[in-house]
Amino acid sequence: MTAMMDYRDTHLNGAPTNPYGNDHGFDFGNITSTPSKALVERERDRGVSPPPQSDDTRPRSSTSRGMAVNGVADFFSPEVFQIVLHNPATAHQLLKFSQARMSGENMEFLERVDRYNTLLDELTKTLSEIHKNFISPDAVKQLNLSQGMMKQMNADIKMTTMTTLPAMELMFTDAQEHIENLLASDIYPRFVKHQMTTSAVKALSGGSRQRYAGLGDCFCLTNPAIADNPIVYASDGFVSVTGYSRSEIIPRNCRFLQGNHTDHAAVRRLKACIGAKKESVELLLNYRKTGEPFWNLLYVTPLLDSEGRTVFFLGGQINCSTTIHNCSDILRLLSIGEDSNVVDDPYLAAATTSKPGSSGLGALFKTFRSKNNDKYSDIPAGMEQNLINKIERLDFKEQMEMFYTAYSKFLVLSHPALEVKFFSPTIVDMLCLDPKENLHLANNNIFKILMQHAPSMPRDFKYRIKSSLKSGRAVSADINLVTKKSVIYRRSERLATHWTPLKDEKAEVKWVVVTLTAGT
Ligand SMILES: Cc1cc2nc3c(=O)[nH]c(=O)nc-3n(C[C@H](O)[C@H](O)[C@H](O)COP(=O)(O)O)c2cc1C
Repeated sequence: MTAMMDYRDTHLNGAPTNPYGNDHGFDFGNITSTPSKALVERERDRGVSPPPQSDDTRPRSSTSRGMAVNGVADFFSPEVFQIVLHNPATAHQLLKFSQARMSGENMEFLERVDRYNTLLDELTKTLSEIHKNFISPDAVKQLNLSQGMMKQMNADIKMTTMTTLPAMELMFTDAQEHIENLLASDIYPRFVKHQMTTSAVKALSGGSRQRYAGLGDCFCLTNPAIADNPIVYASDGFVSVTGYSRSEIIPRNCRFLQGNHTDHAAVRRLKACIGAKKESVELLLNYRKTGEPFWNLLYVTPLLDSEGRTVFFLGGQINCSTTIHNCSDILRLLSIGEDSNVVDDPYLAAATTSKPGSSGLGALFKTFRSKNNDKYSDIPAGMEQNLINKIERLDFKEQMEMFYTAYSKFLVLSHPALEVKFFSPTIVDMLCLDPKENLHLANNNIFKILMQHAPSMPRDFKYRIKSSLKSGRAVSADINLVTKKSVIYRRSERLATHWTPLKDEKAEVKWVVVTLTAGT
């Protein structure tokens, strides 16, 4: 009897029923979270230390963490993950994100299991009430039935309680834990990065850059030809975001920003992409010189020369902790619906399928997308098929992933000549350049290129930018350009340009990173 009553509050395996409630809002005041066993194990696994590094000054501990690490809300803790799974708004966005990547079945399964558990709780509770009120020997409203019938019902209820309900309760537990693990290690980190990037892109385009420290002005270049791929140039934004002086940064591998609670899985993913010379985005817990942790939305891409050799890696760091202070902020961020203006950006199509770096592949894929266009009718026969094959050879996940970064459109200029040395494939696409015209960008002066695409350039545009760069300061300015989008909408497109000087160890400007985003 007591056991029957217990079903009101707990599942048969002892876990509290529906710990967060189905209509949980943004208030986390007194939540007692119960992460699944598998999740706790996964968290423990994250503590396995990687092989020691030459510049690994910070020990990485295996300490499990709760909803916050050193006072910073933790996106990836099992507790927060469970809350995200059970919060209707965040679960809905995660479901939509998964469905768009052809893996919605996992979230749909968890949603149905949640529903199943709720119904089971209700069933258990109702059975308990019926037993207590009408059937049990001391029931207040005992039914006027034969003793034999009452005995049989009592026996049936006991049997159901002892065997059927526990079996029903455990029916999906293993599968649920397995699926939760899968989500936590794959789609969930991608979802978090996507949501964070969406928010940063909006801030970069919408004139609220100051909400994120480093957004649009924190960059570094590393040189893979030097042992351990150290930073060789860094912007002032990098100095202020990390709190280290330039001489403490150059020449050092960026891992010095990692610490006790940096997620090893994210570092491994990053390392794999760097090794494969692929573009990547990670959300990493990093530490300022003061030891203060911050969430770093990190973008890394190789910069290739015309022969396809990696000359530098470009890193763009955005401190997201300036907008994420607690779990409510995390939930708010993860509840943001997809903004079609951002996600349907036509230029992102190029980034979706192409590898980054120099001009080559961006142009190739542009050719592929325009294969029915007369303009490209002189492409040698069979070329289109080569390109289709190339896309088909891409990993399925790679094809599905909307590769989405805050810095999808960038150029890297030499200084003081301000000649374009590297650029993202999306720039070629945006400026509607013929693949054969890639040379048009490479080694040409940026103002000459902009002038060819700007119906009119603000009078002081060039002067303002040149003088800021000369004095080593980052500068932003809007400009109207004739782009792919403007061809579609029949008017020039307003773009915000952000110019960031990258300096060597003597604080001399050697390179300039230019990023372009939708203007205000
Ligand atoms: C251009 C560039 C920028 C990077 N920026 C950061 C960073 O801001 N924070 C960080 O934790 N790691 C950053 N990394 C990653 C580390 O330098 C290193 O590649 C990573 O820790 C994996 O290697 P490891 O396992 O040898 O440490 C960056 C790497 C590159 C190439």
